Amino acid sequence: MVVKNIAVLFSGSGSNLQAILEKVHGKIFKGIKINVALLICNNPDAKGIERAKKFGLETVVINHKDFSNREEFDRAVVDEIGKFKIDLTVLAGFMRILTPVFTDNIKAINLHPSILPLFKGAHAINDSFYSDMQVGGVSVHWVSSELDSGQIIAQKTFARKDKTLKEWEEKIHKIEHKLLPKTIIEILTKESDA
Ligand code: GAR
Repeated sequence: MVVKNIAVLFSGSGSNLQAILEKVHGKIFKGIKINVALLICNNPDAKGIERAKKFGLETVVINHKDFSNREEFDRAVVDEIGKFKIDLTVLAGFMRILTPVFTDNIKAINLHPSILPLFKGAHAINDSFYSDMQVGGVSVHWVSSELDSGQIIAQKTFARKDKTLKEWEEKIHKIEHKLLPKTIIEILTKESDA
């Protein structure tokens, strides 16, 4: 059987990591088994580390505070990924700005909580909520050297209606937990069709 390995990078709560572990890890799609082979987190206190343990998975912690610049941190992350045969790297709430040391070397997708190219950056949920947009949404895109700007792979939108900020955020996460696993599966099974 063909096995494809993914690396998941995260920084905090890890609810999207959990969705990947529940819906993708160890499962077979179109004859291809997808394994989460590597977890990397830049924050030693991230809740996602505990979530992963419940699935029997250890996380490699690479604390960005241990590095004097972004390039050195990225080099450590790239080297770790290079130790495994990784087919796709998934940024699931990985809150680091990446340099070309990473983006030139790693084939990666990123999850972003807005309808890109609108509301790039680390505050997309609040920025989109406090805008006058009547829709919100989620994007998955290829990682490129420019922040939140690589080619868009998948998007899903929802209507504002009378949502509070809490409801807006909950809706985004609910969509993310479906859209990211679905996109990973589509990428890894489509490649084999080619
Ligand atoms: C998600 O909403 C994700 O879209 C966002 O961080 C959250 C992580 O949640 N990412 C970004 O804002 C990237 N710019 P999680 O830790 O529960 O998966």
